[in-house]
Amino acid sequence: MHVAADMAKVSSNPRFSERVSQLLSNMHLHEKIGQLCQVSGCEGHVSEHLAQQVRDGWVGSVINEVDGPTVNYLQHIAKQESRLGIPLLIGRDVIHGFKTIFPIPLGQAASWNAELVEQAARIAALEANSVGVNWTFAPMIDISRDPRWGRIAESLGEDPYLCSILGAAMVDGFQGTDMSESGQIAACAKHFAGYGATESGRDYGTTNIPENELRNIYLPPFKMASDSGAATFMSSFSDLNGVPASGNRWLMKKILREEWGFKGFVVSDWESIYQLEIHGLTENSRDSAQKAFNAGLDMEMVSTTYREHLEELLETKQVDIAQVDHSVGLILSVKEQLGLFDKDCQSPDTADAFYQQESLDVAKQIATQSCVLLKNHNQTLPINAQETQHIALIGPLADDGFEQLGTWIFDGEPQHSVTIRSALESACPSSVNITYDRAMATTRSYTTDLYAQALASANQADVIVMCVGEEAILSGEAHCRADIDLPGSQMELIEKMAELGKPIVLVVLAGRPLTLEPIIEKVDSVLYAWHPGTMAGPAIADLLLGEAVPSGKLPVTFPRKVGQIPLYYNQKNSGKPATNDQYIHMNDIPPRSPQTSLGMAAIHLDTHFSPLFEFGFGLSYSQFTYSQLTLSQHHINRSETLEVAVTVHNTGDWDADEVVQLYIRDLVASATRPVKELKQFSRVHVKRGEHKKVIFSLNINDLSFYNDEMQWAAESGHFHVWVGGSSATTLQQGFELIDG
Ligand code: NOJ
Repeated sequence: MHVAADMAKVSSNPRFSERVSQLLSNMHLHEKIGQLCQVSGCEGHVSEHLAQQVRDGWVGSVINEVDGPTVNYLQHIAKQESRLGIPLLIGRDVIHGFKTIFPIPLGQAASWNAELVEQAARIAALEANSVGVNWTFAPMIDISRDPRWGRIAESLGEDPYLCSILGAAMVDGFQGTDMSESGQIAACAKHFAGYGATESGRDYGTTNIPENELRNIYLPPFKMASDSGAATFMSSFSDLNGVPASGNRWLMKKILREEWGFKGFVVSDWESIYQLEIHGLTENSRDSAQKAFNAGLDMEMVSTTYREHLEELLETKQVDIAQVDHSVGLILSVKEQLGLFDKDCQSPDTADAFYQQESLDVAKQIATQSCVLLKNHNQTLPINAQETQHIALIGPLADDGFEQLGTWIFDGEPQHSVTIRSALESACPSSVNITYDRAMATTRSYTTDLYAQALASANQADVIVMCVGEEAILSGEAHCRADIDLPGSQMELIEKMAELGKPIVLVVLAGRPLTLEPIIEKVDSVLYAWHPGTMAGPAIADLLLGEAVPSGKLPVTFPRKVGQIPLYYNQKNSGKPATNDQYIHMNDIPPRSPQTSLGMAAIHLDTHFSPLFEFGFGLSYSQFTYSQLTLSQHHINRSETLEVAVTVHNTGDWDADEVVQLYIRDLVASATRPVKELKQFSRVHVKRGEHKKVIFSLNINDLSFYNDEMQWAAESGHFHVWVGGSSATTLQQGFELIDG
């Protein structure tokens, strides 16, 4: 059936090119609906059913087909054997690398290095595109304040600004400046929106986020992705304030299209339209299709409610053909921007794309910069290989090429991983005896049979390096934990090692912040490496041996205890903020104390209110001090720029990088503001003994927020500004924003 209604409106739409408008006017209705449907691939072969669907124009996109020749064949059918020759979008979760695996996104965020993050995405795109993938479902830019949530691994952390900058860098890396160039693919900003606020950190759970919080904390990375030209967005699985995101018109139409002017298209998450019925938002799949489509969801991933019901919904006028044309036009436009109509969809030679030396170098560099040194008692690190005779390398993650890759590595190949053990063995001179004991089968094991052997080796060593943490499967989608201590009997192993009285270096590989409080005092040094990817070994070996200096900073707060969650640096002050003066532990409260014996402040009785490690924290082998924080002026008007200068001294013995962070606080506002907000940062290299002046510029936009009326505005009044090496910095100045 050819539906011509409203066609004039569509073809005159200046947003669509001549080609797209032409196609739209020639398409049969089912071909239009077909463009809105994404189907699952058959992993390495094309079933006759799928081939026929593509031939008949019922498929706009295929997800999860990465076999080059198979993708080629599918594109051949779409372009040569279907009536209109419309190519397919081939979608894949290329989250932190395709073949060359980079650190998990949370690890990449710890590098605070947008340039490297962009390069990693560019390499991932190049590798994926070589088999015909032209669309990735990344970046994931959900703000995550809950380390119980398995998908925190896939996120860029808790801060809206850091997440915005790095998310945009990923978009740039995937898409380049021209998506039609070979090696570039379309990005997908996900999961729109609020997914990371899932109750108790259980995946797919409900989220309730007040609009002000949503706009100020959760939405900025998405706004930035839209402004950066992300070709697509993905709607979230989750229920947002009672309206599941995949049926949420306010989100997808009002915010995304009307307020932000987003130009790409929105895809659902896997069957998330069908799931609207399970949420209890709709009665049946016909309702779900209507709700989602009218809410602004353009393409359906895997479930088939559009395919089954859109035609009838058009007939009954519950859906408007102009809207269908609009969605199809958006999808065709992305295909056009990718150059799919004009070029061969696959460059045939994958051998040149995978594991190029430059890619491995970038993987090593970003893994190096993502490691965060949390503790370094007595400068146990770096290990001086010339003066060390025996290193006891212990633990289930020291020599495991699979686990170091982390979650979401559908196409990763552990046989290409360089493990910590192998890298350390090659990096150390032959005079160093490196013994290796896995000690536990997995990080979750409770059997202690292998402990005796590991302890015996450790007892002979000059230094013990323990590689502990979480296996890859313990984080990622649907892999949430209620207890985020080191799993299995790893704590017991650490305690036993500590009894030997030898220096202990803990290298932690994990997909989330773990609660390290129970063991932190038992070890000398802690290097937090996340899941570092293919080049984990060379990166960590360099850091352990002082060939590289740690420079990562935490993109997320580390709680002391799970009960503190959610715990994040940009919290509100409250009317009764916690202070050290008022803090008392319950064990110190005398029996039968009166009700008001405590400071009546926002504290827990059984743990200090501070985090174990704050957002932005990370040590170096060198030391940095900050001084001379100066402002260009102490009063600025709305059109002026405030220059904030600081001097960073490297007072230690190593040439090193430091991530200089600038925070502000708006002291009084119509809607309360966080006690600190990251506004800018800069990674600088300072030679030992030298100093560098770092200058930041703040403008009205940096001082603006969504106020009590949900308007984006800066309110005149007093601000504090801090600069330092973490969110706990106390180097502060003040200024006033004045009207005029
Ligand atoms: C479900 C996940 O939530 C989403 O992030 C992913 O891109 C899709 N599945 C496709 O695999």
